[in-house]
Amino acid sequence: MIRILILNLSTFLLLSFVSTNVFGAEEKTDGEKKTESTKEEKSDKKKEGDSLHDLMESIGDDFKTAYKGIKAKDATKKADILKAIANLKKNAEASKKLVPHKVEKIKDADEKKKQTEDYKKQIGVLIENIDKLKKKVDADDWDGAMTLVKSMSSHKKKSHEKFEEEDEDH
Ligand code: HEM
Repeated sequence: MIRILILNLSTFLLLSFVSTNVFGAEEKTDGEKKTESTKEEKSDKKKEGDSLHDLMESIGDDFKTAYKGIKAKDATKKADILKAIANLKKNAEASKKLVPHKVEKIKDADEKKKQTEDYKKQIGVLIENIDKLKKKVDADDWDGAMTLVKSMSSHKKKSHEKFEEEDEDH
């Protein structure tokens, strides 16, 4: 009889242990659930990596890589420069499909249309220059490439004056 009691007690203890540690692990408090959904929202936001802001940040990095390599006339960096130029092209093309916040906010429909067209035209100029730059680097025309990146820099400055919002000072 005592043996049966001990056996029943150990089975009970074993079952309680299993239910809290195995099945219990699946149970989450509301607080835990909330933290997890916030994490999911955050990673969704990260996936938005294609905003004009993010694209321009990449364009800024790749332009710097290309500019530095061209300035140093460093033939050993040619592959890196061409890779940066290929990225520039990809991100400039993606930027053409978007509209800057500053233009988005314009109330007057005609003015908004005009500014949107101008923005796309200027991104078009950027894309043409990227294509020209690739040809110059392919041909090892370092001086020609340098003249071009300088003019791309001043085109960037003018475009930023038109299309960047005041507090986005880059
Ligand atoms: C070589 C050419 C260019 C480079 C290296 C460049 C680089 C950059 C950088 C680094 C930013 C700042 C991103 C940040 O806020 O952290 C930026 C923002 C911006 N750029 Fe450019 N850019 C170039 C050409 C252009 C052109 C041609 C246009 C327009 C036609 C343009 C429009 C904008 C706009 C609208 C923003 C603000 C984006 C936002 O934060 O919403 N950029 N650019």
